Amino acid sequence: MQTIIVYLNGDYLPVGEARVSVNDRGFLFADAVYEAIPAYMGRCFLRERHLARLARGLGTLRIEADVAPLAGVGDELIARNDLVAAEFSVFYMQVTRGAAPRTHAFPKEAVAPTVYAFAKELVRTTPDRWERGFGAITLPEQRWARADIKTTGLLPNVLAQQAAVEADVEDAIFIREGMVQEGTHNNVFAVLGGEVTTAPATNHILHGVTRAFTLELCAGLGIPARERAFTVDELRDADEIFFTGTTTEVRPTVELDGRPVGSGRPGEITRALSEAYRRAVAPG
Ligand SMILES: Cc1ncc(COP(=O)(O)O)c(C=O)c1O
Repeated sequence: MQTIIVYLNGDYLPVGEARVSVNDRGFLFADAVYEAIPAYMGRCFLRERHLARLARGLGTLRIEADVAPLAGVGDELIARNDLVAAEFSVFYMQVTRGAAPRTHAFPKEAVAPTVYAFAKELVRTTPDRWERGFGAITLPEQRWARADIKTTGLLPNVLAQQAAVEADVEDAIFIREGMVQEGTHNNVFAVLGGEVTTAPATNHILHGVTRAFTLELCAGLGIPARERAFTVDELRDADEIFFTGTTTEVRPTVELDGRPVGSGRPGEITRALSEAYRRAVAPG
């Protein structure tokens, strides 16, 4: 089997040889941000938008690290792991505040951030599987009030996704005080009265790159779309529901909390957006 090569603090090395300190603040406190960029035939899609979000997260947390070199790291990992011809893969990177003896406040003396990255192939949803649609459950929001920062502190997302797995569905939707927020690793959209609707980009959701791109696709296709707060009751009455995300692409939800969504089949607006997305990501 091929050895997986990862990137750690300037070095490319076999995954089994990559080591981080037990004092790493990513390990101790989830004091870290991460990013994931989709790649199609080895080419990262919307890379600059993802790196800009990573830079914003680092700035908000006051972790000093330069994201510019990561573009080249992604290309190198894709090449070294034979992913140049892979239909669909992901370039993942995370930056922690670094290693220092455990105390909550930032280290008094500046420490070097820990920068870790890998690339791996993803299984893309086949057209047949897409046509059957997917299931989702709703759950009460249990996260902190800065879900817009892409930190590695993902325990509520882990628990919610596990609940989805145990309910035998693919996605879970966070509901905050009756209002729809997002999925555990993707943004959620509903078609309400013919209008594509998604929660506004507040501090309570991740400002998904795929979410923003999907809104641009709506504009290009002349599909009415709006960012507005909407309730779980509106979601239950939606004609269509779909998720967007780096690994999710555009995925139709046909069952919510055990009840059919709309006709119980992927809707026409979801289909048009999924097709437009697939065209956009196709290597040209
Ligand atoms: C909580 C959450 N929401 C939304 C998304 C989708 O964001 P993007 O489209 O940038 O992948 C992600 C992606 O990982 C996520 O973790």
